[in-house]
Amino acid sequence: MVTALRIVDDEGSNATAAPGKRVFLETFGCQMNILDSELVRDQLLTLGYRFVKEAEDADVVLYNTCAVRAQSEQKVLSRLGVMQRRKVEQPDLIVGMLGCMAERTGGDLAKKLKHLDIVVGPSELDRLPTLLQQIETERLQLRVDRPKARAHQQVALSGHTNRRSSTLDAAMDRLEALDNGRLVDEDAKHTQAYVRITRGCNKFCSFCVVPFTRGPEVHRDPDAIVAEVQKLVDGGAIEITLLGQTINHYVHGSTNFAQLLKRVHDEVPSMQRLRFLTSYPRDFTDETLDVMASSARMCRFLHIPAQSGSDRMLKLMNRGYTTESYLQLIERARSRMPDVAIVGDMIVGYPTETEEEFEASLALLRAVRYKTAYVFKYSPRPNTVAHRRDADDVPDEVKRRRNNEMLRVQQEIALQHHEAMVGQRVQVLVEGAAKLDPKEHEAPRDDDGAVLHSLGKKVRPARVDGLVRLTARTRGDHIVAFDGTADLVGTLAEVVIVRATPLSLQGTLAS
Ligand code: SAH
Ligand code: F3S
Repeated sequence: MVTALRIVDDEGSNATAAPGKRVFLETFGCQMNILDSELVRDQLLTLGYRFVKEAEDADVVLYNTCAVRAQSEQKVLSRLGVMQRRKVEQPDLIVGMLGCMAERTGGDLAKKLKHLDIVVGPSELDRLPTLLQQIETERLQLRVDRPKARAHQQVALSGHTNRRSSTLDAAMDRLEALDNGRLVDEDAKHTQAYVRITRGCNKFCSFCVVPFTRGPEVHRDPDAIVAEVQKLVDGGAIEITLLGQTINHYVHGSTNFAQLLKRVHDEVPSMQRLRFLTSYPRDFTDETLDVMASSARMCRFLHIPAQSGSDRMLKLMNRGYTTESYLQLIERARSRMPDVAIVGDMIVGYPTETEEEFEASLALLRAVRYKTAYVFKYSPRPNTVAHRRDADDVPDEVKRRRNNEMLRVQQEIALQHHEAMVGQRVQVLVEGAAKLDPKEHEAPRDDDGAVLHSLGKKVRPARVDGLVRLTARTRGDHIVAFDGTADLVGTLAEVVIVRATPLSLQGTLAS
């Protein structure tokens, strides 16, 4: 679907600097969105825009949205409601919706919400500067031509779908430039950084909107990936996370995923840590597990969602594997890396899920012993197979009960994992000051539509003894809080675990 209230020519990208314009950008959803927001930010910074922390201080307000569940979309709609009221007092304000919800609802939403100036899908983000520029120009023109008229130009671009056809290659080249154009300067320095290796998804799980919003799978050139990792590490990144929706499906020319991992690991020796998200349970090769096990700087971490512990559900979900083959994969991973942390996603209340089938999911949780399980209540998404084929027949209170029950079981498992770590000496990556609420670290995705920001290096003022409460992560992605000096932020440290709660660990610096 191409929805365009006004289409901008491919030839028309002539965005010029907009010195001083203040931008507020809020990100919803997954890591892929966090990365997209960083790339958008870099692009706009290069053009002279400035970024502010509060929407009230901004000339341009952008929401990078998620469409995976209805609740995430609701949050954005309520933000847009606030902006609608603000625009009465500040008619020059530019309001934009980026990302998957923009792609899914496209121009329809823009037609309804007249105060929404820009709607840009995830595969059009490279054109955002041009669109901003265009709106500004048209408003200026309007002021000259009809000084009393209200600004009323909207631009909506979505539609990777047309890119399944002939324009795909050209569009991908431009998106490639977006990834390659990222900034690595003092301001953009991170302790950890994301690098995309694959765009889109071809899996079409029956419940999921992502193949519609992010388009078909396209893999990036391994040389470009290695070069980007090197650039980020040279710029100060300590940990690199490779991103893809079904990352183990990566293949480019003769390079498969295992070979790519090995290349990145071996060719960037100054990178301290490497990990990747998200794995698809089918076709996860022993070759990849062997590379993980034999690479000293690879994290012991696998995010590999099962979604359900019932084979009938898995079939309806079009997942293409059984509970048995999933458990065998976990076994293959643990036999090579006994300390590997496994993270999963589970859906409760998928249409027709019975109590027994839900119990089977709990049994899977106990069998796998996840480090973290993100639990989602099924949310019907327009256009998906599940939405068209399966009535959403599990009542909301049943979904809620199953959700809570599953989280309770998972908490017990997480506490056991954490208690087993007490007394151990572990290597951690120090990320910054500890937040007051450890939940913010541990479960960024189980709160519907949780707002995620990339990690900064902010440190609270030192106490009298010169120490601050720091937060850090192990190679298995366990969060550890401990007291140390602020200069440890952004470095690897050795810590002894002294206390465990279901959500976090506390440690002391090893001497
Ligand atoms: N492979 C992707 C999955 C994206 S969606 C990744 O990078 O993680 C993230 C998770 O949201 C899925 O694993 C699934 O558990 C959940 N999810 C997706 N669609 C959903 C829906 N319609 N209702 C509830 N949960 C959903
Ligand atoms: Fe969604 Fe399944 Fe792809 S969950 S992102 S369609 S692997």
